[in-house]
Amino acid sequence: MKLIKTVDEFVGWRSKQSNSIGFIPTLGALHAGHMSLIKQSKQKCQITIVSIFLNPTQFSPNEDLDSYPDTLEQDINNLDCLNVDVLFLPSEVEMYQNVDDVDVTSNELFKKLEGKSRPHFFYGVTTIVSKLFNVIKPSHTFFGEKDAQQLIIIKEMIAVMKYPITIISCPTIRDDNGLALSSRNSYLTIDEKKQAAIIYQSLMQIKEGLNNGVSNPNSLKDIFKRNIIKNHNMKIDYISISDIKTLDEISKIEGQKILVSTAVFFNNVRLIDNFIY
Ligand code: PAF
Repeated sequence: MKLIKTVDEFVGWRSKQSNSIGFIPTLGALHAGHMSLIKQSKQKCQITIVSIFLNPTQFSPNEDLDSYPDTLEQDINNLDCLNVDVLFLPSEVEMYQNVDDVDVTSNELFKKLEGKSRPHFFYGVTTIVSKLFNVIKPSHTFFGEKDAQQLIIIKEMIAVMKYPITIISCPTIRDDNGLALSSRNSYLTIDEKKQAAIIYQSLMQIKEGLNNGVSNPNSLKDIFKRNIIKNHNMKIDYISISDIKTLDEISKIEGQKILVSTAVFFNNVRLIDNFIY
């Protein structure tokens, strides 16, 4: 695996490539979810590039930027084992001073769901992903369905900014008990990980309600809330049943495609999960 730390070196290398290039941007602290994106890329594309960049602009001052898990050595070993072709490992100076600023159009979707609790988040994400696209120039990019809103927003950004990039969404990878894999799970003890599975199980109860024809979103959300509040260390940030396109809450379920999504604080750890119905 080739390791490239500067934009200049990357651009030099990129100018000699003509094959299809799959790109997976990451914040590091890689887990099986990231590995599944990489495996998809290896199947579809001739070259696979992963970036590790802990992007400061998507964290607010009260969030976990400083304590975000750093497992770089292990990440490099894992990427090597998967035969990733290039790991792009830029510094903050490279991404924010040595790459041109981008003018990412703000979007109403930035303010919904995750954006209500984390108003800065999608500005930071679209800025860095756009800068990375401009440097990497991939033919394909791979994003996980666990970050459903991020996936929807990046798809829209690719369309609006006319990037010649095919985006491929990949299913959420879960622990045996259903807990969605996330780098932030490493903040949880083994016992807390077992308890956190209640989030997925409660989402599945909503799904069961939908399968049984329940059409009132509030009744479905109540099932979820009743389950979660049983654990005194958990606090629901939001539980939403929204239109998949507008991400607006829906008042009646009548066959439209919906996103059921949630964020739950388990002590101080914020966990998200969702399913599409
Ligand atoms: O999903 C993530 O890990 C990040 O938001 C991303 C896409 C790497 C941008 O920093």
